[in-house]
Amino acid sequence: MQASGLIAEIRQLKKHRNAVILAHSYQRPEIQDVADFVGDSLALARYAQQTSCDVIAFCGVHFMAETACILNPSRTVLLPDKEASCSLESSCPTGELTDFLQANKEKNYYVIAYINCSIGVKALADVIVTSSNAQQIVETAPVDRPILFVPDENLGAWVAEKTGRKMTLWRGSCHVHRLFTRDQILQAKQQFPDAQVVCHPECREVVRLLADHICSTEKMINYCRQSSAKCFIIVTENGILHRLRKLVPGKDFISISTGTCGCAECEFMKLNTLEKLRNCLRDMSPVISLPEDLRARALVPLQRMLELSC
Ligand code: 13P
Ligand code: SF4
Repeated sequence: MQASGLIAEIRQLKKHRNAVILAHSYQRPEIQDVADFVGDSLALARYAQQTSCDVIAFCGVHFMAETACILNPSRTVLLPDKEASCSLESSCPTGELTDFLQANKEKNYYVIAYINCSIGVKALADVIVTSSNAQQIVETAPVDRPILFVPDENLGAWVAEKTGRKMTLWRGSCHVHRLFTRDQILQAKQQFPDAQVVCHPECREVVRLLADHICSTEKMINYCRQSSAKCFIIVTENGILHRLRKLVPGKDFISISTGTCGCAECEFMKLNTLEKLRNCLRDMSPVISLPEDLRARALVPLQRMLELSC
């Protein structure tokens, strides 16, 4: 079926189900365009918590849809492709974290978990952070307890540097962001000498050191809009380029090529398609369902995050 036919069907089904379509900035352009709201992890979590729609069709990866369900359990949360996982989430299995905390019980770690993790890990955390509020939240961590930051060692190292707080870092990383290299950035800078380098904090330190600005996907939009520069080298997943070009017209955005596809692409994010979005609204499946006791435990650190980043 043609995209226009699918879009018309999605709009009809959305009305029929009283649904809202949320999309992360790394989604395919056609999904971003049909969504009611596009944002970063924090903005999406807030939107999902507040929506009065009966159904949330979440175009993102599993932990994001799961977070929506933790925050707003009376809604039905759909994920167009249930295989949409996340390498950062996979790098910190709940069992391994449980064992680590058990083996280091005497340390009484204050556990800070990046939102890119499973519900089991969230339930073990004291507080959750996203890339846009991590610095602010780490600053509020108790000074009399050692901090364990999971699962992203790169985001953790960046926040430790920004806040001066010492943290034990879980050795996890994102398979998309860890592929960016220093040479790639240097080459791009040579080709576009007037461009500013804007990079996501999930990138490795060697890459972050070459950046003019480091921030979450949402903050990239504001930064590029407000900056007097006309050209930007964007060091993150390429889905954000669609949003940047749409919301910041008249400026140039250069992407860095990595990975087997020759572009910085998260294959999990790209699993969602218009067809699968139509199917999930039609069939009301795949649906996210969570054990209530686990949901209630994971809600506590998530709510703490939302309160602290008001
Ligand atoms: P943001 O919260 O910045 O959108 O990041 C989410 C993510 O998965 C980055 O890889
Ligand atoms: Fe996870 Fe990386 Fe994909 Fe973000 S880009 S969803 S961190 S695998």
